[in-house]
Amino acid sequence: MRLCVIGCGNVGRIIAKAIDEGTLRVDLKYYDRNPKKCEELGKPYSMNFEEFLEGCAIVLEAASQQAVRELGPKALEKADLIVLSVGALLDDELLSKLLDVAERFNKRIYVPSGAIAGLDAIKALSLVGIDEITLVTTKNPKALGVNVKERKVIFEGEAKEAVNKFPFNINVVAALSLAAKKPAKVKIVADPSVDKNIHEIYVKSKASDLHVRVENVPSPTNPKTSYLAALSVIELVREMEERLKVGT
Ligand SMILES: NC(=O)c1ccc[n+]([C@@H]2O[C@H](COP(=O)([O-])OP(=O)(O)OC[C@H]3O[C@@H](n4cnc5c(N)ncnc54)[C@H](O)[C@@H]3O)[C@@H](O)[C@H]2O)c1
Repeated sequence: MRLCVIGCGNVGRIIAKAIDEGTLRVDLKYYDRNPKKCEELGKPYSMNFEEFLEGCAIVLEAASQQAVRELGPKALEKADLIVLSVGALLDDELLSKLLDVAERFNKRIYVPSGAIAGLDAIKALSLVGIDEITLVTTKNPKALGVNVKERKVIFEGEAKEAVNKFPFNINVVAALSLAAKKPAKVKIVADPSVDKNIHEIYVKSKASDLHVRVENVPSPTNPKTSYLAALSVIELVREMEERLKVGT
């Protein structure tokens, strides 16, 4: 199976390491708008997107919301697509365009759990309707790109506005909203005393109430991205070839 990765950045590098260590057994190819990033990785890459897509079974977008917009539809004509910059999928027009291409070319779009836990239960609960879903994300100000000296709520609002204002920090709220089939409410807190990326999810529904708290170690090369996010992609790709599927 050939995995074609858009993005030779932090997640791209963790995927390459998983291949080198034998955790992931796939044939690998990269594409990035910045060739230097791919050269640093030392893995096969192409600067021509059409050529990059040749022979791909799965395309992993690990780049940006802009990459989902610009490259997602073309990728789906040739391969299944894993979207990590999930915030892009809260754009209704883009999502329906991607679903339309997937339908026409008989391909699938995968959204990994990324930096959070609990999507399995949230998807199941959506069958009886979710009354309320809220995400509270707390990160060090450096990871959020803001300068505050003490704990401060820097955003409170709806999912779509959050992913537009913080495109590299709050992708998880898009995954939550897609799983819950309703927009999640978001609070983003900058706290100089934390060195982890903390996500707290609160769900109220007829069947269950959930409170999930995830404390993630930031990736050393990109504090905005949690290590768990890359691991979740690796596990998703591994599971595609497994006979036993665990979780909803
Ligand atoms: N769903 C989640 O839970 C979750 C968690 C972590 C990261 N993410 C998202 O995954 C993406 C990758 O994260 P990362 O830490 O590897 O980022 P990164 O900045 O380290 O690397 C991104 C790479 O993609 C390239 N790139 C960006 N836009 C591109 C485009 N339009 N065309 C071609 N190449 C492009 C950049 O040059 C860079 O090399 C980010 O958008 C991030 O927000 C999602």
